[in-house]
Amino acid sequence: MIQVNNLTFSYSKKPFIEGLSFEVKAGEIFGFLGPSGAGKSTVQKILLGMLPNYEGSAVVGSVECKKHGSNFYQNIGVDFEYSTMYEKLSARENLEFFSSLYRLRHRSIDELLMAVGLENDADKRVADFSKGMKSRLNFIKALVHDPKLLFLDEPTSGLDPTNSRLMKDMILEEKRRGKTILLTTHNMQDATELCDRVAFIVGGKLFALDSPHNLIMSKGAAKVTYTWIENGEQSASCDLTEMAGDKKLRNLIAENRLQSIHSSEPTLNDIFMEITGKTLV
Ligand SMILES: Nc1ncnc2c1ncn2[C@@H]1O[C@H](COP(=O)(O)OP(=O)(O)OP(=O)(O)O)[C@@H](O)[C@H]1O
Ligand SMILES: [Mg+2]
Repeated sequence: MIQVNNLTFSYSKKPFIEGLSFEVKAGEIFGFLGPSGAGKSTVQKILLGMLPNYEGSAVVGSVECKKHGSNFYQNIGVDFEYSTMYEKLSARENLEFFSSLYRLRHRSIDELLMAVGLENDADKRVADFSKGMKSRLNFIKALVHDPKLLFLDEPTSGLDPTNSRLMKDMILEEKRRGKTILLTTHNMQDATELCDRVAFIVGGKLFALDSPHNLIMSKGAAKVTYTWIENGEQSASCDLTEMAGDKKLRNLIAENRLQSIHSSEPTLNDIFMEITGKTLV
């Protein structure tokens, strides 16, 4: 769905994005994970044809982004980092306006408003919306024409836990409906939960690209920690792959004396730090 090859771009004389290559397969959720200023939004803007003065190749669908025609956007939905609504119009008027710009497959505005819990605010001016309400409205604006490809820039940022959950469920639902989704985030829980594959990006460069599971498993063994009662609570741990050889653990299992046992893998954040030397925030 997206092929990027040796992409190089700069805002000034110094190259910022340098030799970036990756592809996004149809039907997957692909995440850009990186700290603030890493270049996540810049790459999205290149793929959206908004920054045409790049070198190398960036193909979306079968179109080289810098050469796109007016049909390019019919199958693309974008949830930008910042609200892109007309503040003096109501939520419904905004959605009706943006929907009218597309030719095909208009989705029900009432259903979309209901899906993000904005049905009672549909006729309120966007200027009077809270930040989280604007985020939710911005998201459904990307869906009005039921596009095949979705670009979501920090879709959960600024949302409370309930709305963040709702947003993530909607993103997964869009995936089930067959969409290809490219999302940027610096929230590693969201990336782990939502993305089929993630790209670690720092300073405009790609440091790693794989599924969250493979990235986590590629570094550091998972540990098993167990507890038992023996003159008070005792605990010990071993590598998950060495459980069978751990005599104490085997004895505790045989004697049914385990109080608790749990395994813990490194988090995606740990792996990100190990690979890039940077934290995600
Ligand atoms: N229009 C612009 N002109 C000049 N420099 C820019 C422009 N837009 C972004 N930059 C610079 O490019 C770098 C990357 O910005 P970008 O918005 O792509 O980062 P990001 O990874 O999306 O960060 P965040 O997580 O904060 O959204 C930053 O150093 C930023 O200052
Ligand atoms: Mg950004």
